[in-house]
Amino acid sequence: MTAQDLRATATGDGPAGSGPVGIGIIGAGTISAQYLQQLTSFPDVDVLAIGDLVPEAAASRAEEFGVPHFGTVEELLAREDIEIVVNLTIPAAHFDVSRQILAAGKHVWTEKPLTTDRESAAELLRIADEAGLRIGSAPDTVLGAGIQTGLRAVRDGEIGTPKSGLTIFQVPGPEAWHPNPAFLFQTGAGPLYDLGPYYLTTLVLAFGPVASVSAVASTARTTRTIGSGPRAGEDFDVTVPTQVSALLSFDSGANATVLLSFDSAHVHQGVAELYGTEGTVALPDPNVFDGPTRHITYRGEEWTEKPAEGSVAGRGLGTLDLARSIRTGAPHRLQGDLAAHVLDIMVSIDEAAEDGEIVQVASTCAIPDPLPADFDPTARTL
Ligand SMILES: NC(=O)c1ccc[n+]([C@@H]2O[C@H](COP(=O)([O-])OP(=O)(O)OC[C@H]3O[C@@H](n4cnc5c(N)ncnc54)[C@H](O)[C@@H]3O)[C@@H](O)[C@H]2O)c1
Repeated sequence: MTAQDLRATATGDGPAGSGPVGIGIIGAGTISAQYLQQLTSFPDVDVLAIGDLVPEAAASRAEEFGVPHFGTVEELLAREDIEIVVNLTIPAAHFDVSRQILAAGKHVWTEKPLTTDRESAAELLRIADEAGLRIGSAPDTVLGAGIQTGLRAVRDGEIGTPKSGLTIFQVPGPEAWHPNPAFLFQTGAGPLYDLGPYYLTTLVLAFGPVASVSAVASTARTTRTIGSGPRAGEDFDVTVPTQVSALLSFDSGANATVLLSFDSAHVHQGVAELYGTEGTVALPDPNVFDGPTRHITYRGEEWTEKPAEGSVAGRGLGTLDLARSIRTGAPHRLQGDLAAHVLDIMVSIDEAAEDGEIVQVASTCAIPDPLPADFDPTARTL
């Protein structure tokens, strides 16, 4: 199908209360390709339109993935047949774009972080609540077969009572591969806000809400150089810490050590280990959808490996869970309060690093049940 300019068709066909859920996507950048690849293959959703500040970007993604309409944000939001809008803009725009989506009467699925500060996150949750609309937020890698299998093992008592955890993410930084990486080194990003959501959401799903944090942070280099794409060779400023070490205390009494770094020439990432009264599980990388869970007990035998059970479909799983939940009336799994709590933890880590104090985390969240192992995104259920 040839993509059509939204201006020609802004009114759509009216709200759909049954059948596949109409989806619009705002932000036609790097990650939109992964979302579009998946969402256009799930029968329970219909990707109807793409909008972007840069119309050519929206047009080109629409053509690439056979999405029928493209245009501006306003034109997309005017369509009555869109029920969920997926916000794939940069973090600094998340709040404004999500607020516009809610104001248009549509549910939000947003890339992480939810917003860049506690106040705007609370404001979004309030607006959604008052309007009877839902907010779901990435990272949906934690809904992938890998992490879900590990979380089910913990829930089923494989390590006894979970007591502590360790996560490590260390890389040289994304400027080598991302063609437009400056935003990843500015407010709302850095390793804490860009990668923290994967590791912190995993820890919260395993241990429950965080009560307090302490942290130290540093910045190895104040300028970096774009390494790929048409702007390769251009320097840009680094305005946030690029190495963060945090200690978390959970309401449950558990604790965890979290290392997030763009300052390591050595790549050492995807470490997410949970230690309990009976043993250890090493979860797969929280930033991907697949991978085995390894398990060892104190009795000294070798590691055992549990293959991932569930869907490894990729980005879009959380949007699909939201879409199906809207139709059935069930709670969706990655709710706004979880994302707001994870944001609160990240802001608290920033504050703790800056002030050298332990910061109490005031927010909390409900912990969703794991997805059933037979969750099938390719099934038509609506
Ligand atoms: N790139 C990745 O590998 C990756 C992975 C996981 C999550 N994410 C998240 O996805 C989001 C987008 O990242 P990206 O790498 O695709 O960024 P990007 O810069 O490649 O794309 C962002 C797009 O959003 C558009 N945009 C920005 N502000 C807008 C606004 N106010 N209204 C409409 N459109 C606007 C831009 O024009 C651009 O096309 C970020 O939140 C990021 O944290 C990215």
